[in-house]
Amino acid sequence: YEAKIDLSDMEKGTYPYYMLKEIDEQPATMRRIISEYTDETGTVVIENELLESLLGSDRIYIVACGTSNNAGWASKQIVERLANIPVEIHLSSEFGYNMPLLSEKPFFIYLTQSGETADSRQVLVKTNELGYPSLTVTNVPGSTLSREASYTMLLHAGPEIAVASTKAYTAQIAALTVLAKAVGEAKAIAAANEFDLTKELGIAANAMDAMIAEKALIEEIAAEYLATTRNAFYIGRAEDYYVSMEVALKLKEISYIQAEGFAAGELKHGTIALIEEGTPVIGIITEAMTAPHTRGNLREVESRGAHTLVIASEELSKDGDQITLPSVHQFLRPLVSVIPGQLIAYYATLLRGYDVDKPRNLAKSVTVE
Ligand code: G6P
Repeated sequence: YEAKIDLSDMEKGTYPYYMLKEIDEQPATMRRIISEYTDETGTVVIENELLESLLGSDRIYIVACGTSNNAGWASKQIVERLANIPVEIHLSSEFGYNMPLLSEKPFFIYLTQSGETADSRQVLVKTNELGYPSLTVTNVPGSTLSREASYTMLLHAGPEIAVASTKAYTAQIAALTVLAKAVGEAKAIAAANEFDLTKELGIAANAMDAMIAEKALIEEIAAEYLATTRNAFYIGRAEDYYVSMEVALKLKEISYIQAEGFAAGELKHGTIALIEEGTPVIGIITEAMTAPHTRGNLREVESRGAHTLVIASEELSKDGDQITLPSVHQFLRPLVSVIPGQLIAYYATLLRGYDVDKPRNLAKSVTVE
């Protein structure tokens, strides 16, 4: 694989922190993924052997850590619907020593920004020993997991320097969408044929730009909700739950606010006991079917003193909601709904006086198990 590293990518330029630069780069990364993985007729193209191998598999196992694991969750529905293959998501550090019963023809996808994570590599070593086909989806050409897997798909996101991963998350979702579209088309799955990837990913990139343009609003919101709190919750259902896990991880890893992403309906089964006067609870609402339920859960916590904040898609937005997300194709909603949470984490951290790019106790790439 050809490394296309532009040295100017390594500079912060006028940005105070890499994280903010990398958040801003996300729409451009979406556009680069479109151009890297489509031909002049707009057809999605992936390596032929990779396609054949996926066509021969009966189940996809996505194995990853941290933000990459969250990107796996956010992509599960897209891959299942477009490619019509069941998908399981696993934490690398659990999977290696606690392997589930595998299907007859498993296909392993290792999601890893760095391509060097030891927990993920130890699983790849085992699945290689067992002779199973694998794909590494990574941002780093020539990285260890890329070299050791059967196939590689590059994210083309440019170097990610901030410890808190942002553009790799959205690029991983986009790359898996590309993969699923190619497989689904080859299998003549109606959902894949109908999904115009170039158009929809382009619309999503524009929506991401629109969200990124709301920095001033989001900075104010971070100040209002997160300046002094000890803890915070993100809640949502289905895709909104998966994005909640990711934005809660962003918030906790850099601002040190104890943050949890929770399935909205599960709060009442225990965790609601943690709600006190003023506890921030942020609801993510992008899906019509679950919107009334998540709003109901927000009312429940509000009546127990929570300081609630709503991030909702424009078609589901109501008076009083603080953040409105532009509408995009249902499969691509996580690409847009994650952005306010990334920015909330960034501004909360600035406000609380910590180094956004270098949080305590964390490393960008973890090469020990
Ligand atoms: C480290 C980083 C996280 C990252 C995780 C997995 O813990 O701090 O931001 O999500 O590793 O990294 P990978 O390179 O495998 O995606």
